[in-house]
Amino acid sequence: MSLLTCRMDGEIAVLTLDNPPVNAISADVRQSLVAMVAQCDADDTVRAVVLCCAGRTFISGADVREFGQEPVPPHLPDVVQCLEQAQKPWIAAIHGAALGGGFEIAMGCRFRVSDAEARVGLPEVTLGVMPGASGTVRTPRLAGLDMAVEMVTTGMPIKAHRAKEVGLIDAVIEGDLVAGAVAFAREALSAPLPLPVSQREMNARDESYWQAAIQTASKAGHHAPLRALESLRFASEHSFEEAMAHEREGFLALRASEEAKALRAVFFAERRAVRPEALKHVAPRSLSRIGVVGGGTMGAGIASACRSAGLPVVLVERDQEALARGLSNVDATFAGAVKRGKMSEAQRAELMVGITGATDYAALGDCDLVIEAVFEEIGVKRAVFAELDRHCRQDTVLATNTSYLDPRDIAEGLSHPERFIGLHFFSPAQIMKLLEIVPVPETAPEVLATAFALGKRLGKVPVQSGICEGFIGNRILKRYRSEAEALVREGVSIQAIDTAMRDFGFRMGPFEAQDLGGLDIAFLQREGARASGRDVPETLGDVLVRAGRKGQKTGGGWYDYAPGERRPTPSAAVTALLAVSCAAPRDMPSEAISAHLVGVMADEGQRILAEGISGSASDIDLVEIHGYGFPRWRGGPMHWAAQTAQE
Ligand code: NAI
Repeated sequence: MSLLTCRMDGEIAVLTLDNPPVNAISADVRQSLVAMVAQCDADDTVRAVVLCCAGRTFISGADVREFGQEPVPPHLPDVVQCLEQAQKPWIAAIHGAALGGGFEIAMGCRFRVSDAEARVGLPEVTLGVMPGASGTVRTPRLAGLDMAVEMVTTGMPIKAHRAKEVGLIDAVIEGDLVAGAVAFAREALSAPLPLPVSQREMNARDESYWQAAIQTASKAGHHAPLRALESLRFASEHSFEEAMAHEREGFLALRASEEAKALRAVFFAERRAVRPEALKHVAPRSLSRIGVVGGGTMGAGIASACRSAGLPVVLVERDQEALARGLSNVDATFAGAVKRGKMSEAQRAELMVGITGATDYAALGDCDLVIEAVFEEIGVKRAVFAELDRHCRQDTVLATNTSYLDPRDIAEGLSHPERFIGLHFFSPAQIMKLLEIVPVPETAPEVLATAFALGKRLGKVPVQSGICEGFIGNRILKRYRSEAEALVREGVSIQAIDTAMRDFGFRMGPFEAQDLGGLDIAFLQREGARASGRDVPETLGDVLVRAGRKGQKTGGGWYDYAPGERRPTPSAAVTALLAVSCAAPRDMPSEAISAHLVGVMADEGQRILAEGISGSASDIDLVEIHGYGFPRWRGGPMHWAAQTAQE
C-alpha cells in the first residue's frame, strides 16, 4: 500500500500520509512527498493540496531507525524546499504533534492549520542535535527570534493556540480537521498567497541579546543548544541560502558528537525499559484501584502519582490523626502542581475526590495493587503485610517500597508470595521518574508485568533490580560517596570534589547533596547495622553527625550555612574535625576527580551486572540518570565508561 494516498475534494487534493505508528519521516516518506509535489503540479485539476496524516499524529519527526545513520536522499532540507516551491499551495493539517522534521515539513507548506489539541516543536536538542532542515532558519521567519530561540534551545513543544498566536500556524480548526483544512484552502485561494516562509523578513538582534541567550542556553550543560543558538544568530545575519548551509553543517557535526551518541543511547534505553523483552508475551493484570499504606513522604507522593495517572486511590494510615496528615500531604503535592501552573484548582479538587482515606484495612478489599510505604522496620512491615494478606483479594498485587530491607524477609509468611514485589519509588515520588522493580524469587511473571505496566502508566522509567543492599541505585550511591570520602582522606578538598562533579554535569556534588538531604539517615542506618553486629567502618560523615552536623537543617554538615541560606561555605570547623583522618591538602585536577568517581560508579555497575542484579548496562545508566542526577547527555556511567575506554 502506498504511504501517501490522494483523493480529490473538488479542486483540492487531500493527501493522507500513513506510516504507522507515528508517521515518522523514512526515506520512503521523503521520496513520496517529492513525487507527490510533481504529480500535483502536473495535474491541472488540482488547485491546492491538503497534507494530513492517518493515525494518532501528524509527522512526529525523524525515523528512529535512521538515527545516527548516513542520511539517504532525498534529504529532508530538499524535501522541505521542494514543498515550498510547489506551484500549488500546500496546507499542512496537523493533529497530534508535528515535531522536528515533521514541523519542518509543515513549515515548507504555504499554510499550517491544526486542531486545538495539536502541538508543534523542535525537540532535536533533547537528542543532542539541532534542527537540520530549516528549523533554525524558517522558525524565526514565522514566529520571530524570541520564540524561535525558546523552541529551538529548549526543545519544548508548544500548544496549538499559542502556536497560532505567535504565527507558527495560521488557523486552529474546531470540528473535523480535514474538512476544516479543505475549507481553509478554498478560502486561501480566493486571496493573494502569502510569501513562502524562506522569502519572509526576519529581525536581527544586538550583541547583548545573544549574550543573554547564550547564558540561558548554557544551563543545559551540553553543546547542542548553544550550537542551535549560534545557527539562529547566523540566520538572522545572513541570507536564507547561507543560513541553510550553515545549519546543515551544524546539524551534521552535532549528529556525530559524543553527546548525541549518549542521548540517543538513553533514548533507546528508555524505550526498551517500558517494554522489557522478557515480558513481551506476559499480559499484565488490569489496574483500576490502587491502595497505599502509609501517608508519609513516600506514601503521599506515590498516592499522588497514581491519582494523577487517573487511578482512584485508597490511603490507609494507622490512626485518624496520621490519616488526616497523610491526606494533607497528598493534597500538598497537588497544591505544589497548582503553584507551578501544572494544574488548576478545579483539577486539584477533582483529584482529591478520588482519594479515599481509611484506618481499616478492609477498605483495601477492592484494590488491584497495594503499595506499602510505612516505617523502614521489618516488624512494622511484616505486620502490615499480615493485614494485607487477610483483607485483600487473593489476586491483589502486594508491593513494598522498602529502600534497604530485604523484600524476601518482608514477604515471609505471606500465603501467596507469588503476588509480592518490591516497587522502589524515589523522593519526591510524584516527580522522580525512576522506579526500581524488585521481584522476589516467587514473584509471578504477570505480577512483574503488572509492575512494569504501572510504571509506564505513571510515566516512570521502570528498571528491574535483583536483591542486594540498596538495590542498583543506592548501592552505587554508597560506593560513590565512600570513594568521594576516600579522596577527602587523601587530602583533596570537599569543594574541589563538589565543583568537579558539577563541572561534569551533576546539579550538585556528593557533599552538597548530602547536606541538602541530611547526613543523619545514612548515619542511623550504619548505626543500626553496627548495633546488629555488622562491621561497618566509621565514615567521615559519622564524625560530622556525632558533632551535631547533620546538614543544612542544622546549619552545617560538610559546609557551613548562614541562617536561612542554602549557599554552602567551606567550614573551618569541618577541617578541624576531619584533620586527624585526612592527609595534607593536595590538588587534584577537576577532570581527574570526576573521571575517578564516575569510573567507580561504573565499576560498581559492572559488579552489579556480574552478580546478575541488573540485566543490562543501559538499565544501570537509566537508574543513575533518572534517580541520581547523572547528566543525561553523558549517557550514564556505563555508557560513559565504555566510550572513555574506546578513546
Ligand atoms: P515516613 O516516616 O515519612 O512515613 C511513614 C508513614 O507510615 C507515616 O505516615 C506513618 O504514620 C505510617 N505508618 C507507620 N506504620 C503504619 C502502619 N502500621 N499502618 C499504616 N501506616 C503506618 O517515611 P517515608 O520516608 O515515607 O518512608 C516510607 C518507606 O519508603 C520506607 O520503607 C522507606 O525506606 C521507603 N523509602 C523512602 C524514601 C525517602 O526518600 N524517604 C525513598 C524510597 C523509599
